[in-house]
Amino acid sequence: MDTYLAIASRRDQRRYRPEPLSDDVVGRILDAGRLAGSASNRQPWTFVVPEGRSRVEAVAKTVYVPDNVLGAGLVVAVVVTGKGPVSFDAGRAAQSMLLAAWNEGVASCPNGIAERDALHATLELGEEETPVIVLTFGLPERLRDPASRTAEDWSARANRRPLGDVVRRLP
Ligand SMILES: Cc1cc2nc3c(=O)[nH]c(=O)nc-3n(C[C@H](O)[C@H](O)[C@H](O)COP(=O)(O)O)c2cc1C
Repeated sequence: MDTYLAIASRRDQRRYRPEPLSDDVVGRILDAGRLAGSASNRQPWTFVVPEGRSRVEAVAKTVYVPDNVLGAGLVVAVVVTGKGPVSFDAGRAAQSMLLAAWNEGVASCPNGIAERDALHATLELGEEETPVIVLTFGLPERLRDPASRTAEDWSARANRRPLGDVVRRLP
């Protein structure tokens, strides 16, 4: 297991090949979300998967970049209920799904919600349910081989603030 290599080599990718994902891979991605930890183990999430083409097209209209959804092999809306740190919990579940996908060679991207009410209606959510993010997954159009570099190389190339900027050590 080299989770650090998986984390360091992963980037959000938005262009996917048209082939569908296997049921096995989809199952693992969703199960990774299910397995995430949450505050008091409340598991305040539901992963809503639009499958019919017209439903996917309706979801696409509610995010900032519809093409990300239209070209995806799998779309997962992370939906939460209840109070407390539910957004943090949703983030943990989402990141687990993104990394589990990458472990299968599947690329992915979070998609911000532009039309929240429309998405709520499209996904047939209950009053107490709130959509947090729409995740898109697919076989990447542009292949990136995690093993082509070391984790340290991937890290050094990442478009991220330097570690010295994001870590503040206190005596
Ligand atoms: C909450 C959230 C919302 C995002 N919304 C969008 C989006 O609407 N469209 C999009 O193409 N990417 C979206 N992204 C992806 C970010 O642009 C991406 O994580 C960031 O640019 C880093 O990309 P990289 O991993 O390829 O370096 C979103 C990411 C997050 C965490």
